[in-house]
Amino acid sequence: RPTHTSVEDNMREALHMLDILPPDQRKGFMQLFSAHCQTRSCPAIVPAKVQHPPPEMLINLEDIPECPGDQALRHELLDKVVILKLNGGLGTSMGCKFPKSAIEVRSDLSFLDLTVRQVEYLNSMYGVDVPLVLMNSFKTHETTAKIIRKYRMHNLTIHTFMQSCYPRVIKDTLQPMPAGSFSQESQEEWYPPGHGDVYQTLYSSGLLENLINQGKEYVFISNVDNLGATIDLRLLYHVVDSEADFALEVVQSTRADNEGGLLVGYGDVVKPKLLELSQLSKDVLDDFKKRFNLFNTNNIWANLRAIQRLVAKDELHLDVAVHERVVSGTRTIQLETFAGGAMWCFAAHGHKVLACTVPRSRYLPVKSTSDLFLVQSNLYSIKHGNLVMSPERPFRMTPLIKLGQEFSHVEDFLVRIPHGVPNIIELDHLTVAGDVTFGTNITLKGTVIIVANEGSIIMIPDGTVLKDKVVTGNLRI
Ligand code: UTP
Repeated sequence: RPTHTSVEDNMREALHMLDILPPDQRKGFMQLFSAHCQTRSCPAIVPAKVQHPPPEMLINLEDIPECPGDQALRHELLDKVVILKLNGGLGTSMGCKFPKSAIEVRSDLSFLDLTVRQVEYLNSMYGVDVPLVLMNSFKTHETTAKIIRKYRMHNLTIHTFMQSCYPRVIKDTLQPMPAGSFSQESQEEWYPPGHGDVYQTLYSSGLLENLINQGKEYVFISNVDNLGATIDLRLLYHVVDSEADFALEVVQSTRADNEGGLLVGYGDVVKPKLLELSQLSKDVLDDFKKRFNLFNTNNIWANLRAIQRLVAKDELHLDVAVHERVVSGTRTIQLETFAGGAMWCFAAHGHKVLACTVPRSRYLPVKSTSDLFLVQSNLYSIKHGNLVMSPERPFRMTPLIKLGQEFSHVEDFLVRIPHGVPNIIELDHLTVAGDVTFGTNITLKGTVIIVANEGSIIMIPDGTVLKDKVVTGNLRI
């Protein structure tokens, strides 16, 4: 087997010969590729070194003091902040071929519309100019540029920049897949390398310096599909007051959290680290999920000057996650980094880091139509672009919703639930499978299971109330 240095040299040479990637991106790509080559012979994570995160860096949102009500102080705090949404992903997992942020989630409003409303509200309420920054990828940039034209007359400033675009790597030869630089025709052979790219590309786009020059000090980063990721003044006040350079919001994990990262402590001198579940081998996964219960929300507060220093000194070497894809019949790998991976680097270079446990209301990701069902329901109302849980719900937890594959694309979801999501204020658990359609004015309570077996159709009639019911077979009205 060739040594990892010869594999790296071969890759470097191929990039040079084929003239793939501009020099700054070539460096970033080679960093990921070298890390991958090294971990092939020496795993990045040694399970025995994984421990609990250092307690002194853990805080709970409910325990920290409220931000003082003084309007001038609030104005001063908000004036330091930039809101950045990770907007590189398409809505493919919900059957959409356009930026996920353009999916209409509620009352004809998309994720982006809701975000714009939130920022506009902050700007007018506190008389500030909090900029909204969108990190796009080559997959979302053009469409997003068209969409955001409609906000030109709104009370906010939007900046965009584009993250890197890296070549997929052929799994068997560890050579780049594209035979030349990026083109529309070879798009499939390229990929955006994960949201960990945000620090480097914010820097290399020049926008980081521009924001610092405008007097901005902190960036609040979050997934564009997390409807709970809003500016929390109490947390902002705490981050600024405690001079933290990096703060990650985490939630208590539940069994349903199967994709994402766990907060742990790692190393001989224990430092906080985010472990992506996909980085863990099957034999330790269950044990780790039982032992460590703080789950990443990807809501991140970071000091802009600290990012600038770390990137300039080339000190942000994030863990690399490997994803395999078959593209045009070829087995390929794509090397990605994740934004929370930076926590380790901030801590390792002497920056103050915090992890703050927040309520689930700050983590409402919409990854599937089951999540969409929840956020479109009467469990929530919208206030200034924020989702607010209904006070009528008798329990604190949201219900568990499992819609079958017949619902997995947004278009199918809308055809099967044409009159709006049922009343689920008192629902605990809903499973729907098979050819099922909902009528109008339906109420679901307790545990409801609706299964249309193969060849059968279930149409839930208008006005139905189902409480702790299993509905199966062929029910057509
Ligand atoms: P994820 O990849 O975790 O979730 O991205 P997703 O986009 O919902 O992917 P699916 O639907 O599970 O396949 C989390 C956030 O990071 C952005 C996405 O747009 C999303 O807001 N992202 C992801 C980027 O901006 N760039 C990337 O390279 C990857």
